[in-house]
Amino acid sequence: MPRRAAARDPFYLAVFAEELVRAPAKRAAIERLCTRCHAPAGSEELAIEGQHLGFDDLTAGSSPAAILGRGGVTCSLCHQIDPANLGDERSFSGNFTVGYQRTIYRPYRDPTSDPMQLIVNFRPTFGAHMTSAELCATCHTVIVPGPYGDVVEQGTYLEWRASAFAADRTCQSCHVPTVDEAGRGITTPVAGFPAGLRPRSPVGRHTFVGANAYMLELMADAIDWVGAGIPAAELHSAARSLSHLAGAATLAVERIAGDAFTVRVDNLTGHKLPTGYPSRRMWLHVEVDVAGSTIFESGRVDDVGRLVDSAGQVLPLQPHRDEISAADEVQVWEARLVDGAGEPTHRAMDARRYGKDDRILPAGFAPSAIDRARIEPIAVIADSSFVGGSDTVTFRVPGLATGAIVRAALMYQTLAPETVDAIAATPTPAGVRFVELARAKKQAPIAIVRATATL
Ligand code: HEC
Ligand code: HEC
Ligand code: HEC
Ligand code: HEC
Repeated sequence: MPRRAAARDPFYLAVFAEELVRAPAKRAAIERLCTRCHAPAGSEELAIEGQHLGFDDLTAGSSPAAILGRGGVTCSLCHQIDPANLGDERSFSGNFTVGYQRTIYRPYRDPTSDPMQLIVNFRPTFGAHMTSAELCATCHTVIVPGPYGDVVEQGTYLEWRASAFAADRTCQSCHVPTVDEAGRGITTPVAGFPAGLRPRSPVGRHTFVGANAYMLELMADAIDWVGAGIPAAELHSAARSLSHLAGAATLAVERIAGDAFTVRVDNLTGHKLPTGYPSRRMWLHVEVDVAGSTIFESGRVDDVGRLVDSAGQVLPLQPHRDEISAADEVQVWEARLVDGAGEPTHRAMDARRYGKDDRILPAGFAPSAIDRARIEPIAVIADSSFVGGSDTVTFRVPGLATGAIVRAALMYQTLAPETVDAIAATPTPAGVRFVELARAKKQAPIAIVRATATL
């Protein structure tokens, strides 16, 4: 997602508006929290004056802070984050500090500083922290104060530091790659002005790609409403750049004894799969064909994107599964928040805990004691094949014949259609707008990776 869209994301604004309506007494605290990472430049502008950016100002205001805020995660905000508290618990949940010496941090030791200093009065300065995961940790560790205590709404950085990747692969190595699409190292001047700047290497492409193409497409369809000066073509092309996803996982199908086969998913990312906002979900769509006709299917969706059985009946929430033997059983990897009454909720500020978190662990998963309590899997009972780096699901299909063809796909969805319905239940203007956009654009799940095998 181009970081510039972070404050205009219609899903974000819908949930933000809902949190405000649900807890009007906490308005200022919620506004402070929800603008800190999504509209950080506007948030910072007012924070230094002891004020904060409000929802109405963010969405419709014309103050300098509102305009900065709508710019999302801006270039200068990210490049001005100070190294002082990075890596510290206190830097999480948007508590990055911004220096006011007009310093722009960059990953090079010998910046050419005259042009920036003369033209925009910023001093380019070497900052080793620009290439550290702790920079990203500030916004990618989202701990929300709920009515029952802290809830780790997003633990992407904590997941990463518990993984084998913490040893040698930063977030940047995958999300700000220093190689081009063909895998060649990039060497280029980093600015076109003034002419004759010496070429640099490495140079990181600011792709920041995740699987959330759906929201980009929604925004491209409502470009006037989105504003923020992002052309629709840019959003469409960003949504199409999903080649990165192929690197997220691999699938392997293998016949085992009896009428059974296994599908193994290996997580190749540096965090849980899926990670990030807890509305994300992933499941296996598996079809078995014998002599040209389909004898078994699990993980089908209807035309709205809801999981259904073979008769088209919408399925209830699925527990974690190690074995599947019927069309109304699906393995869905997801993190589901529940409220004080144990009911599912999509709002972190209402949540007590996770009722389920069986997102596939990153390789080498070994959290420290303090992180174990925050990111350990939940409700993954007696599944010895759920291990660091992978999960294997066994399918038992009566009548499975040699020569049967198994087609498996790992499917991803930004949010379940049921979550759109849940948002519709509290009709705020931003919520109504989001629900309209989401219902007008059916969410086709994305196949992250596919595999076909003849048994
Ligand atoms: C979320 C944080 C983030 C945002 C937003 C961001 N950058 Fe960067 N930028 C980085 C990181 C991290 C690196 C270092 C990448 C590496 O070398 O591994 C970098 C490196 C660079 C470099 C190369 C090194 C240098 O300083 O000359 C340039 C140029 C640059 N960014 C410009 C931009 C511009 C222009 C924008 C806005 C369009 C932008 N950045 C937005 C994080 C960010
Ligand atoms: C100032 C806060 C901030 C910092 C620092 C930051 N991010 Fe983010 N990032 C965000 C927000 C907010 C979003 C969600 C955008 C939205 O809702 O549209 C996001 C989204 C993303 C996504 C998902 C994009 C998608 O299409 O799903 C990736 C990947 C990502 N960030 C990587 C990084 C990396 C890597 C770093 C460190 C170099 C970093 N971010 C630093 C705030 C930040
Ligand atoms: C080994 C490569 C790798 C590393 C290291 C890595 N990521 Fe990712 N990340 C990926 C891939 C591939 C995806 C796409 C799959 C997806 O969206 O779930 C992804 C997805 C994401 C998303 C979007 C999740 C979603 O579905 O909304 C965010 C946010 C993100 N990464 C942030 C980070 C941060 C922060 C770090 C470091 C703490 C990091 N990543 C480290 C490969 C990596
Ligand atoms: C500490 C930083 C931080 C804070 C504070 C924060 N967010 Fe986010 N939010 C993020 C990041 C990072 C992502 C992107 C994760 C991903 O792509 O999976 C995100 C994503 C989202 C999304 C999903 C957007 C999409 O396109 O799928 C919603 C909705 C959202 N945030 C709502 C809120 C609300 C409401 C608040 C206030 C209660 C809030 N956020 C506070 C960092 C933050």
